Amino acid sequence: MARATSVAPKVPGWQAACVSLESKFNKPMAPKSIIQDRNPDLTLLSSRSMPADILGTAPGDPIAILGTQRRLAEIVELIHTASLLHDDVVDYAETRRGMPSANVFSGNKLSVLAGDYMLGRASVFLARLRQPEVIELIAEVISELVKGELYQLTNTNIDYCSEEYLSKSLDYYLEKTYLKTASLISKSCRASAVLGGATEEVADAAYTYGKHMGLAFQLIDDVLDYTGSSEELGKPATADLELGLATAPTFYAWEEFPELGPMIARKFSQEGDAAKARELVYKSRGIERTRELAQSFCNTARESIQIFPDTEARAGLEEVLNMVLTRKK
Ligand code: FPP
Ligand code: MG
Repeated sequence: MARATSVAPKVPGWQAACVSLESKFNKPMAPKSIIQDRNPDLTLLSSRSMPADILGTAPGDPIAILGTQRRLAEIVELIHTASLLHDDVVDYAETRRGMPSANVFSGNKLSVLAGDYMLGRASVFLARLRQPEVIELIAEVISELVKGELYQLTNTNIDYCSEEYLSKSLDYYLEKTYLKTASLISKSCRASAVLGGATEEVADAAYTYGKHMGLAFQLIDDVLDYTGSSEELGKPATADLELGLATAPTFYAWEEFPELGPMIARKFSQEGDAAKARELVYKSRGIERTRELAQSFCNTARESIQIFPDTEARAGLEEVLNMVLTRKK
């Protein structure tokens, strides 16, 4: 996104602002004696310097990524990893990325603390970017991730199983999906554009791209939970129903098989519920319709970035959409 927006329209004075942030983003604001007081780790961390590639000013110059934008990517990766460390505890997962998950080899306590530490470091680096909107966007993401997870745990809107409730449940699921997955992607896409001095129109397009790509990503993740194997995915498959979770394929299947309603409402807690629900989802058009919805989100994401100049970076963003739709893991 940094590369794709680097040659798109900029706000007046963007270059001076970028140069100023570029010279400061790796430096603490409080006195070093206080920041590093009796904390040997921080001496190590803050001595690490970042390469700062200031991008070319004229269109057609080599496209580079600003140091601030690369740092943002690191912050986002820290937050993402922290959320997965916590998620694997919440979901009792045993594998992640083809290996035993951290909660299995280090235990829940260390997993939670490692995630917390990453969030702490991410927050410090975020403050040092010294860009208020970016700080606001990414701090908001942290609380939205937690909110998404809480929506999923409580599922408050699907306590009923009437037909009238069906469409509300899908809406609620999509809201949860935004909070849990699309928030981080969309707000970090916008933050990257903002750090590069993009105009509001460009920053908004970056956000729209990230939002729809993120929604599609999670929809496909929920399809893969039904269609993928644990070996392929490197993490537990068919886990959602066992965890009591209804996702898009289940909601669409409910339209064809009303008997799914009570099962969804009781979170598949009766013996045989999960197996029966899975069978009904396979029989229904649920998986197909979920893929269609993901496809339509990807179309919106693709359209939104057509205002960017036609570059290899924009083509890369389009390619990401294809990968989201066709991925097997
Ligand atoms: C994976 O979902 C999990 C997330 C996308 C977010 C998890 C968020 C939290 C646990 C809240 C705490 C947040 C922070 C920032 C520490 P999934 O379980 O559907 O996917 P999976 O199959 O990859 O596990
Ligand atoms: Mg999980």
